[in-house]
Amino acid sequence: MRNPVAGRYLGEQWILPRREVLKRLAAGAALGTLGGKWLSATAQDAADGETFWDQVREQFPIRPGLVMMNAANLCPTHYPVLESLFGLTRDLDGDVSFQNRARFAPSKDQARSRLATYVGANPQEIAITRNTTEANNIIVNGLDLGAGDEVVLWSENHESNRSAWTVRARRRGFSVREVETPTGALSADLLRDRFLENLTTSTRVLAVSHVSNISGIGLPMKSLSEACRERNILTLVDGAQSLGALDLNLHDMGCDYFTGSLHKWPMGPKETGLLYVRSGSEDRVWPSMVGVGYDTAEGEGALKFETFGQRDDSAISAIVPAMDLLASIGKERIEARLRALVARLRRGIEAIPGTSILTPADSAINASILIFGLPGITGSDAFEALYRDHDIGSAPASLIDGVRLSPHIYNSMADVDRVLDALREIVGRAK
Ligand SMILES: Cc1ncc(COP(=O)(O)O)c(C=O)c1O
Repeated sequence: MRNPVAGRYLGEQWILPRREVLKRLAAGAALGTLGGKWLSATAQDAADGETFWDQVREQFPIRPGLVMMNAANLCPTHYPVLESLFGLTRDLDGDVSFQNRARFAPSKDQARSRLATYVGANPQEIAITRNTTEANNIIVNGLDLGAGDEVVLWSENHESNRSAWTVRARRRGFSVREVETPTGALSADLLRDRFLENLTTSTRVLAVSHVSNISGIGLPMKSLSEACRERNILTLVDGAQSLGALDLNLHDMGCDYFTGSLHKWPMGPKETGLLYVRSGSEDRVWPSMVGVGYDTAEGEGALKFETFGQRDDSAISAIVPAMDLLASIGKERIEARLRALVARLRRGIEAIPGTSILTPADSAINASILIFGLPGITGSDAFEALYRDHDIGSAPASLIDGVRLSPHIYNSMADVDRVLDALREIVGRAK
């Protein structure tokens, strides 16, 4: 490990000398030349061959030999973001004066507008949070609910959109109803109807995961949001498993609030997240945190929800190169690639006798997560064996005794085949 000030960071070769980083940043090219490489690769490889995706993968510092298939939990970021983070942090720490820090304002504004463009929203509808958990809690704790009001949840919600509500309900006296969805034969209509039949005249909010992290089921949020709006019910959509994985447009989805983590599928800087507040739905929510800048942010849509005090300006600015990568490949193309990886996984797993796949196959109600059980071995043992014996990062499943795989654009079809070989070996050994 070497001294970062010496021009190399942690002894790795990828880091540009500081002078070069600053030159690039000064030229407004936070992404550096690597973005150009992606773009030209995109143009040259219209057929989406593996060569293109291999080039994408080269932009990530993933340890050689490791197959990471746990994007639903945490994603690696890529060199342009790392370079940007290092260069900006070095710049900031070299001069923490008000004057130097003021230079970050344009890149922070750019981060907000790039996020807005990416999700199909306006910049004033976007607050930059630390993660989905924080964004969910801003809505949970900010809505003025009391006795007689009801919030409807999905039993598959993440704690930050389930326990957060029950704790709040205990304090404020409203009630919480959890809707369970069946397993087995499912369809978008069936899922929608299951929620609609649980809405009552007391329901004020429907708060659900867009895509469940424990089953991989994706809810038909456009039709649910529309139905809720007709009933004057607010919608909070936890998009931790859809932001960065699906080709989203939040205006089209029509929800009131949408949350996500940029360190998951968008592969952005750690501890950055997003809260979308549909224009017109911001006055229904009290800010949980009020800090410097609140008075000017108050009339500015979602901006009033991010006066948290001192932030990491470098991390927020480094959202820009993260958005650059997503934009240079394209949301639609990323979703198609993830679906292709999952489809190959699914086919291979189905061919292993005795496996059971929990995640529905219908692309209208799934995304990039695959959850399945294996014969003769518990999920946690298989998860451990995958990492220990095969250098594959996955997750144990919690709803069934199984494994969760969530591939991303840094995975190749060869990675998928390696995972399938590993699963066959593990199942064979367990017999
Ligand atoms: C659906 C869902 N919501 C929220 C979270 C929490 O994300 P974070 O820890 O980034 O806040 C997760 C994490 O896996 C999740 O799957």
